[in-house]
Amino acid sequence: MVQGRFFGGVLIGGALLLSGCSKAVPPAPTPQEALALRPADPRIASLYESACKACHAVAGTGAPLVHDHAAWDPRWKQGLPVLVDHVLQGYRGMPAGGQCLTCTPQDHQALIRFLADQPEPKP
Ligand code: HEC
Repeated sequence: MVQGRFFGGVLIGGALLLSGCSKAVPPAPTPQEALALRPADPRIASLYESACKACHAVAGTGAPLVHDHAAWDPRWKQGLPVLVDHVLQGYRGMPAGGQCLTCTPQDHQALIRFLADQPEPKP
């Protein structure tokens, strides 16, 4: 009897832990954190700061906030080519090219990876 309850507890605890894991989304950055985030690559960082940042680092602009997984994960699931396309064509509140006229498609990929907080693929 005592042993049965012990195992029941372990099972429920384990199940909670597992469901917690699959749903765990890192918390969104605070407004100050969002403003301070910067891509590691200096070239990408300067493109980011002259274009995407004005909307994507400011809460309330309608743009998914930089590194906010709750906002980005469903969009990321569309796949990078679709996302690049949406930036190039413009998408709802976002102007075509995301206001980066000098960005190459590779730049846009790197910028989107940074915004969505998705690591670069292994070379
Ligand atoms: C003028 C404001 C503005 C600028 C500048 C801007 N964006 Fe956006 N972006 C938005 C808004 C608003 C949305 C959300 C559109 C919606 O879903 O309603 C968005 C959405 C996105 C999405 C998601 C598209 C999808 O399919 O869900 C990506 C990717 C993106 N932006 C990338 C970028 C990149 C990269 C830059 C810089 C080169 C950039 N944005 C610059 C406003 C902006």
